[in-house]
Amino acid sequence: MSPTRIIIDTDPGVDDALTILLALASPEILLEALTTVCGNIGIDKTTRNALAMLEFANASHIPVARGCSLPLVTAPGKSGEAVHGASGLGKAVLPEPKSKPVNQHAIDFLIERILAEPRQITLFTIGPMTNLALAIRKEPRIAQALKGLVIMGGAIRSGGNITPQAEFNVHADPHAAHIVFHSGIPITLIPLDVTYKCLLTTADVDRLNRIASPVARFVRDSTAVYMDFYKKYEGFDGCALHDPLTLATIIAPELLTLEEHHVDVDISGGISNGKTFADFMKVSKKPTNMKVALDVRGRDFIELFIERMEKLA
Ligand code: BDR
Ligand code: CA
Repeated sequence: MSPTRIIIDTDPGVDDALTILLALASPEILLEALTTVCGNIGIDKTTRNALAMLEFANASHIPVARGCSLPLVTAPGKSGEAVHGASGLGKAVLPEPKSKPVNQHAIDFLIERILAEPRQITLFTIGPMTNLALAIRKEPRIAQALKGLVIMGGAIRSGGNITPQAEFNVHADPHAAHIVFHSGIPITLIPLDVTYKCLLTTADVDRLNRIASPVARFVRDSTAVYMDFYKKYEGFDGCALHDPLTLATIIAPELLTLEEHHVDVDISGGISNGKTFADFMKVSKKPTNMKVALDVRGRDFIELFIERMEKLA
């Protein structure tokens, strides 16, 4: 079977960086481009990190398009530096990239790529959905032209990780999420409900580092600040692989339990702003608008992640 052709819209970000590595390590996937957005840190750093990751993985032929530097309506949210480090890549230090982003804004890049080959590209958004929302507004035909969209975002039954109710990517640009959720694109949502079941532990990282290689060291160094954060605030020795889990939809779909629901996001600006919710009881009578992952065999996914990193190492 030919590999699934994907573009990743990303704000690297430690787990974003690991997603890029996992995509490149997976024969089931053809990573065609990255588009960047502000989120975990500002757009200069997310774009730099995207370019640096591709160079690190000998994949600098893959284009990077720089995207939005601010959310659509709300003020920029809390920086993710406490989780992702000042550079966005924890304690990992990558050389300054030699390559540059393409000379086209991410919004136009996405529109052009998606319309050029209708129903061929699956888009992954693993940061705030600002670029995609604006692309939909500029060229609504992309909603029909995408093969699919996989989103890391939201917290359906789970609590939030940036407010008690909201997940970071959705909360960072709730209006963008609202546009995307109601766009008609075939969506698969990977919320915190499942990503918090995919915990990479320090023992996993030590195991990977039995192979002395730059990839193993990158996983160790990039996750160091992230793991300190989890230890301090969540009380466990590891970190959740939020963004990499999106790729399970291609490389190990059997690990995920998906349900179809009507899912919406609160943009009222109140205490639950950015909260995502599913109409489990079908009280709104609205048609389903996405598949939502509500369970996962988390340990199996972590094993798969480590195996792929070992191959890359
Ligand atoms: C999401 O927020 C970011 O910090 C991570 O990169 C991930 O995309 C998890 O809520
Ligand atoms: Ca991210």
